Amino acid sequence: MSSTDREQWATRIGFILAAVGSAVGLGNIWRFPFQVGQEGGAAFLVVYLAFIILIGLPAILVEFVIGRRSERNPIDAFERLGYRAWTIAGLLGVLGGFIIMSFYSVVAGWVTRYTLASATGAYFAEPAEYFMDIAAGTDALLFHLLFMGLTAIIVGLGIQRGIEMAVKLLVPALVALMVLLIVYGFTLDGAVQGYAYYLSPEPGAIAANWTSILPAAAGQAFFTLSLGMGIMITYASYIDDERSLVGDGAWIVGLDTAIAIMAGLMIFPVLFTIGVEPGAGGAGELFIGVGGAIAGLPGSRIIGVLFFGTVLVAALSSAISLTEVTVSFLIDRFGLDRPVATGIVAGGIFLLGIPTALDLMVLELYDQVTAELFLPLTVFLLVLFVGWFYDEALDEVSKGVSADWLPGAWLWHVRTIILVVIGITLILSIQGLIE
Ligand code: PFF
Ligand code: NA
Repeated sequence: MSSTDREQWATRIGFILAAVGSAVGLGNIWRFPFQVGQEGGAAFLVVYLAFIILIGLPAILVEFVIGRRSERNPIDAFERLGYRAWTIAGLLGVLGGFIIMSFYSVVAGWVTRYTLASATGAYFAEPAEYFMDIAAGTDALLFHLLFMGLTAIIVGLGIQRGIEMAVKLLVPALVALMVLLIVYGFTLDGAVQGYAYYLSPEPGAIAANWTSILPAAAGQAFFTLSLGMGIMITYASYIDDERSLVGDGAWIVGLDTAIAIMAGLMIFPVLFTIGVEPGAGGAGELFIGVGGAIAGLPGSRIIGVLFFGTVLVAALSSAISLTEVTVSFLIDRFGLDRPVATGIVAGGIFLLGIPTALDLMVLELYDQVTAELFLPLTVFLLVLFVGWFYDEALDEVSKGVSADWLPGAWLWHVRTIILVVIGITLILSIQGLIE
């Protein structure tokens, strides 16, 4: 296909909506507060924000450059650019994304269940106990199947555009519901303690725990921005040349970060109020925290259904983006029908997710290994490629950018600081995982 024939986003908003739909998801609302709790609070927040700005934003541009220039999926992109050996980076990203989907779908299954359980108020009395009851086992498996089935139907029918448009409604609705829950949290007895824990780092806390905070913050930054899984390469392959990659990237990163910060403001006051120590809830932090908040509100059942229903759509728009990467590759490369390709991918993800649905410890292990090893390793390879091997990167990133100094500064940053920082976090991750 010549480049002029290739399908492109019809409007500026089409690409942004799809990319925001992919970025905003369980990573912001579930994984972010979970990581803050694991890593001891505000110290993690500080390092995370530094990673988003100094590494995440420039790295999203790295994927955009590869995608727009190659006009290909992450597996075929490198060959098309004339660097076949680097296909390994694309394959690693797709593999990591595949494993991520297998537990993402289990967590999205919990969200599905909470949407239903809100209508009956099942978790209102004992939010922490309720989570433990439903998080692992045959029930979790059933809801994992349900969520994966839902994702497969949308991808199989090729009706993602509908979801993209739903993102337009979803993001404002999600923000409004979060504001409501944040305001409610502000009135609680545990609010001051919650904010102190989340926002005010103890002196020396970063220095004392940097070997675990650094890889965790890097992993969270990549996870939340959908980096290192081939998604942003794929989406950027449809952008036209007039668009400023820098401008689009800044929008996506800014919105994603704002929603994550809000999730923390929503959850920590409640945890301190109901007497659950942050970190103790592990992967359940969101469900216990928000569950506790919703239980205290007038109109709790309706608010619960709306909140978890909105989160469900956010998870769906992320899951679709990842499933689509592999499905479109199978279609392009092997000429499979879309429903067949979707069945293979969704079936594989379902099977891979069985152990994570049955055991919370397995879920947390898969989660850590993918976020702290697969994602940084893939991003490291992509950054190395664009920084040191690919000659056209500067030209590509300069399109539509008016600040003359910016592209050169970006390339310098990519070649040096980013490589070193991700290199260090990778070493720390590997050390942490073998301990
Ligand atoms: N960026 C997504 C999020 O923060 O929820 C992460 C993601 C995970 C996207 C899995 C897509 C996906 F399939
Ligand atoms: Na995100």
